[in-house]
This record gives sequence, structure tokens and C-alpha cells, in this order.
Amino acid sequence: MADRTPRLEIKNLVRRYDGRVVVDDVSLKVYPGQVTCLLGPSGCGKSTTLRMIAGVEMQDSGEIWVDGKLVCDTVTRVPPERRNIGLMFQDFALFPHLSVFENVGFGLGGDRAKRAARIREMLVRVGLARFETSLPHELSGGEQQRVALARALAPRPRIMLMDEPFSGLDNRLRDGIRDETLDILREEDAAVLLVTHEPDEAMRMADEIALMRAGQIVQQGAPYNIYNAPVDRDSVSFFSDINVIRGVVQGALTDTPFGQFLTPGVPDGQAVDIVIRPQHIKIDFDRQGRGPNPTPGDGTPALGVVQRARFMGSESLVEFKMAHDGSILRATVPNVFLPSEGQNLWLMIRRDRCFVFPARQGTSTA
Ligand SMILES: Nc1ncnc2c1ncn2[C@@H]1O[C@H](COP(=O)(O)OP(=O)(O)OP(=O)(O)O)[C@@H](O)[C@H]1O
Ligand SMILES: [Mg+2]
Repeated sequence: MADRTPRLEIKNLVRRYDGRVVVDDVSLKVYPGQVTCLLGPSGCGKSTTLRMIAGVEMQDSGEIWVDGKLVCDTVTRVPPERRNIGLMFQDFALFPHLSVFENVGFGLGGDRAKRAARIREMLVRVGLARFETSLPHELSGGEQQRVALARALAPRPRIMLMDEPFSGLDNRLRDGIRDETLDILREEDAAVLLVTHEPDEAMRMADEIALMRAGQIVQQGAPYNIYNAPVDRDSVSFFSDINVIRGVVQGALTDTPFGQFLTPGVPDGQAVDIVIRPQHIKIDFDRQGRGPNPTPGDGTPALGVVQRARFMGSESLVEFKMAHDGSILRATVPNVFLPSEGQNLWLMIRRDRCFVFPARQGTSTA
């Protein structure tokens, strides 16, 4: 992949509003047939980045390249309509007085027959051929979404920019449309840059995730790597609830109520946060005041009292008050097990599933 020319490449994009840097030196490559997700919390600069690529907004510095050709820096500027970029935004706004057929054909060039053929091809592809003459208000939300997708893809864009395109749909519908959309985009060999603030959506759709925070890309990689090798505590907590156990390093080890953790390469006296997701805490029964035996993989068990247990369907979420310091830890367990309030249980931390980061100054472990 490294020797292929990216379909889209942005280099060191910067955008300021009123002196405040909103997009801060963002660089990114997107390849044909690939979906890259810009994922990050509200306000981190995702939409602004997308608008600059689309050409509806100008960067303060940085470059945008398509197929190895410069389309925009602070001197050159190819206008939006000549960038061969398809757009699909959250408020995808179909024209209410135009039929589905006319909506998909909007902005499509070529002679009449070719145009009609392409429109029909796209409508078949999104499964809406029978709605050709319908007006948008006669369609469900999901169907309208598919019309918008057909419209965006009809001119065969080389790049597809999507900004939270599925956020208006209910969950069940969304999963189906996401998968269909992906299939179509791959068939069309478009390079896709998708913006979302939902980790689940990014994990489901992306070949590559660029995790964005405060205008910067803090980590980039395949979903598996981002989830399993996060660069910092915030990157873990963006994807799930977290538990944090704080300790101080002594001789490359950190002592905790859950036993010792290996913390190589961290100087003595440095405080560290040991971060663990709720689904990776192991729970075991109390045996007359004793827990299971310590193991190298799971360390030493620590006693917790169930504060609250909630049945969530596929799993249960259990909140523990720890006996050693009164701190709260959260664990998820398969739904067959729903402990009762006040029950004593023993918690263990899987060593291969926790992440160790230098403790942040002035932050609590909560
Ligand atoms: N035209 C503008 N003028 C001034 N500030 C703006 C403008 N557009 C965006 N901003 C600010 O820039 C920051 C980034 O906005 P942006 O829309 O890119 O965020 P986002 O990551 O897309 O967030 P969301 O997930 O909520 O859509 C925000 O703080 C926003 O208030
Ligand atoms: Mg946005």
C-alpha cells in the first residue's frame, strides 16, 4: 500500500477561527476502496477538516492533494465543483419538490439517455428502483438516506466525504444501511473519508481510524490497533468506560491491591495510571472471606462489595465499592450472572488487557 498514490492526501492543514486553532496541523492519506474515519468528540474539528477538503472553506495553511495533484494550498485553488468529490452530510437535504429520479440526477451531466441509465443503475443499487417517481416525503428516513447516497455516488466521485451521514436513523436501520453503503462504496472504488463521533460506527465501518482531539490527530491505525494499543488514557476512555488504578513505580514494578504490575522503563517514584476496561475485570466468588488464588496472568484478587448491578441485555454492568479504599470499580459480566446488592465478590485485573500510562498531574483516578 505504501507505494500506491493516495487518492486523497492532506498535508499539515491548519484552520483558525478568531485566532483559535481549530484544525491543528492535520495530515492524512486516504486510498481508493478504503474507508478512513475521522473520529473524535464534538468540537474537535472534524467537520471543519471535511469542509476544507470539499473546498467550501479555505485553510489558513496546508495542502490538499487528489491523485497526486495539488488541488488546494494557499496559492492554488481548484473550485469545489471540479474536485470530483462527493458529499454526504447529516442534513442531506433532498429537494422536496423533485422526484427520487430527479433528485439522483441533480448535478449529473451527460446526454439524456446516459443520464437516465446512470440514475436507474444507482436506484437499483440502493434498492429503490420502484420509487423512481416518488417524492422524498413519501419515503421513510432510511429510504431518503439511500436516495442521498445514490445522488452522491451518481457522478462517480473519486472521493466521498461523509459527515455523520447516518446519525438521523434509528439503530436497527442504521446497521443495515451502513453495511449496504460500505458495499456500494467499495464496488465504486471510491476513497471514503467518514466523520463520526461514535466509536461503534467507526469500528464498524473503518479500515483506518484517525482519532482526533482538540484539532489534532492523536493516533491513527486499524480499528483493532487503536482499540488494543491506545496511546493514552483518553484514547482508551473514548471507546469505553474505564477503571483507573493509581500506583507508584519502584524498581520497574508497581504495587497495588491487585498485586504487582510490570511497569518497565518507568523511573522510580513516578506515579502511573493502570487503566482497565470494565469487560476485562475478572470476577470470582467469595469463599468464606477468601478469593481465588493469585495467578501470574490475573494477579491478586481484591474484595469488592456490589453497589449496583444493572441488567443490560447481552451483559450486566456491576458497580463495586472496593474494600481496601472505598473506590468504585465497574465491571461488565455476561448476562447469565446478575449479582445482588451487598454481595461480596473478588475482582482481578487481567495483565494482558490493562494499559499503563504516566499519571496525569492534578487528575483523580475517577
Ligand atoms: N464558522 C465558524 N466560526 C467560528 N468558529 C467555528 C466555525 N465553525 C466551527 N467553529 C468552531 O470550531 C470548532 C470545531 O468545529 P467542527 O464543526 O469542526 O467540530 P466537529 O468535530 O465537527 O464537532 P461535531 O462532532 O459536534 O460535529 C468548534 O469549537 C466550533 O465551535
Ligand atoms: Mg461536525
